[in-house]
Amino acid sequence: MDDLMPWGRGNLVTREGAGGGGDSPEPAPTEAAVRNLPFYHAPVLLAEVVAMLQPAPGKLFFDGTLGGGGHSEALLQHGARVVAMDQDQNALKHAKERLKPYAAQFCALRGNFRNFPQIVEETGVSGFDGMLVDIGVSSHQLDDAARGFSFMRDGPLDLRMDTESSRTAADLVNTEDEAELMRIFFEYGEEPNARRIARAIVKARMTGPIRTTFQLADIVSVAAPKRSKRHPATLVFQALRIAVNDELAALHDFLAAAPRWLKPGGRLAVISFHSLEDRIVKQTLQHLAAPFIDRPEWPEARKNPDCVLKLVTRKPIQATPQEIELNPRSRSAVLRVAERLPV
Ligand SMILES: C[S@@+](CC[C@H](N)C(=O)[O-])C[C@H]1O[C@@H](n2cnc3c(N)ncnc32)[C@H](O)[C@@H]1O
Repeated sequence: MDDLMPWGRGNLVTREGAGGGGDSPEPAPTEAAVRNLPFYHAPVLLAEVVAMLQPAPGKLFFDGTLGGGGHSEALLQHGARVVAMDQDQNALKHAKERLKPYAAQFCALRGNFRNFPQIVEETGVSGFDGMLVDIGVSSHQLDDAARGFSFMRDGPLDLRMDTESSRTAADLVNTEDEAELMRIFFEYGEEPNARRIARAIVKARMTGPIRTTFQLADIVSVAAPKRSKRHPATLVFQALRIAVNDELAALHDFLAAAPRWLKPGGRLAVISFHSLEDRIVKQTLQHLAAPFIDRPEWPEARKNPDCVLKLVTRKPIQATPQEIELNPRSRSAVLRVAERLPV
């Protein structure tokens, strides 16, 4: 772990401390633009996240998916302090460079956000005014052929966000049996041709291992030819990415731990990009915000011991047509926000 709390423990805001708030001015041009850093990732729903989290001097935020640093930068520009994490070493390196001007307010840690309590605890922080995760991959990860995230670029079949984790997509595709591959494509990709594709992969690998993104994309395209505007390998790559990075379980773990790290009135904001993730976010937040639970077998509703939040967004926030035009990737982004109840 690097760069522990640059502002020193004496200044840490704990569960009791807060302050600031109110309407925020429009963010200035980003530091990255001013300093001409290479494009990495355009943050989605940026204005909406800022409006929901209300960053201000004296407030402390957690950004569990630092990526290119766009959301963190907006929080820092409003005078807040940020503890950020990413499991991708390359993202950390880039974002630290970008956010150098805010070094006194910012600390970046390497790790999976599912383990944030253990990692953040070591910094001495015990509570946040707001927490954000913007899950999924960054544009940089997608564009870098060497990372193997995209079937549009030929590269090794990797798909790991953490390049030090042990299992790549190639390992999975070349070793799992047909039933397991089918389960992955069906459960994580909701791929209607999961069975046919799994069978084609097992057949293809008999003649030699499947090593590249193009090899796999070709196998899928032959097994399940294009029937819509979408490339036939879209859902297979989504499913493999979710499996390789254990993304749904990481999200579950994060959501289970995060609310107790929020100060009273602190907000949790989650941006997701597909229905599998959004379903988990929606159901978990609904459960954590339900004062009572009722089950058919119970004579009456019971108090929910897990109720620590109230929902801020009953309906998810989505990108405006203007944002979608500028950044088509924002089309599928969904933001949900909940607030910690007073203790
Ligand atoms: C969509 S990008 C975030 C973009 C960022 N909000 C910005 O403004 O540039 C997602 C980032 O989160 C990271 N990530 C995804 N899942 C993670 C996890 N479980 N733990 C830590 N980092 C994760 C990825 O490596 C990637 O860099």
